[in-house]
Amino acid sequence: MTNYFRDYFGNTDDRMIVKMDHYLDIYAKLMADWQGKEVSFLEIGVYKGGSIRMWRDFFGSGSSLTFLDIDPSCVEFQLEGTTVEIGDQSDKAFLKKIAETYGPFDIIIDDGGHKMDQQKTSFQMLWPHLKDRGLYIVEDTHTSYWPGFGGGYRRKGSFIETAKSLVDQFHSWYTDQEEVFKFHAAAKQVHSVAFYDSMVVVEKEHKDMPFSVTSQNGKIAKSHKVVTARNRKSIF
Ligand SMILES: C[S@@+](CC[C@H](N)C(=O)[O-])C[C@H]1O[C@@H](n2cnc3c(N)ncnc32)[C@H](O)[C@@H]1O
Repeated sequence: MTNYFRDYFGNTDDRMIVKMDHYLDIYAKLMADWQGKEVSFLEIGVYKGGSIRMWRDFFGSGSSLTFLDIDPSCVEFQLEGTTVEIGDQSDKAFLKKIAETYGPFDIIIDDGGHKMDQQKTSFQMLWPHLKDRGLYIVEDTHTSYWPGFGGGYRRKGSFIETAKSLVDQFHSWYTDQEEVFKFHAAAKQVHSVAFYDSMVVVEKEHKDMPFSVTSQNGKIAKSHKVVTARNRKSIF
């Protein structure tokens, strides 16, 4: 099976790109439906510029492709059809301006400094500017296990722990323990949180209260009981 991303790695120019090898297979699956589409895309982290051409050539020619880096020298990597902006991914005012100028986005990739405050501030500021059905991807989340990056095993406030909390939050429709597990707005916005080795992908979806469906003799009925019933002892 062809893999655009592996093929790209075999056809780079002098602008280096850096990814963990297994991301190339993850991206091939994750991005399959987006190839050739006109998207609004944001990547944090330019480094030597190698990912700019990879993404530009992957998406449709009418796409809006924005890249951010804290290093001013990254401006030189801007290609036709792309924009490189310089600023700090933990600077809320800068991110607000980027979102207002280039958002809302279909896809956001955080491949920047990989420190906890950077990843969390970027997620907090940019998530509201991700479109319905959009993807928010954070690379190199192994730094959540590195104290030097603000992480550490099960460290409260690491990006991985924040993403794990999102899993609880988007299930909060079903709380039966309001005193410790309150309804959270993320339940109306998060479709999925996928954990890969060193990569977290959060998919957005605006949702109303989930419901179950029954069908008998071709007659479909829906019920919100799974959400509204309290103090359950049995699922039936
Ligand atoms: C891993 S490299 C990016 C690699 C690139 N995305 C690629 O695929 O080849 C990380 C980049 O993040 C940038 N960076 C570090 N801290 C940052 C911050 N606070 N805000 C924005 N960019 C930052 C660095 O200057 C560096 O160029």
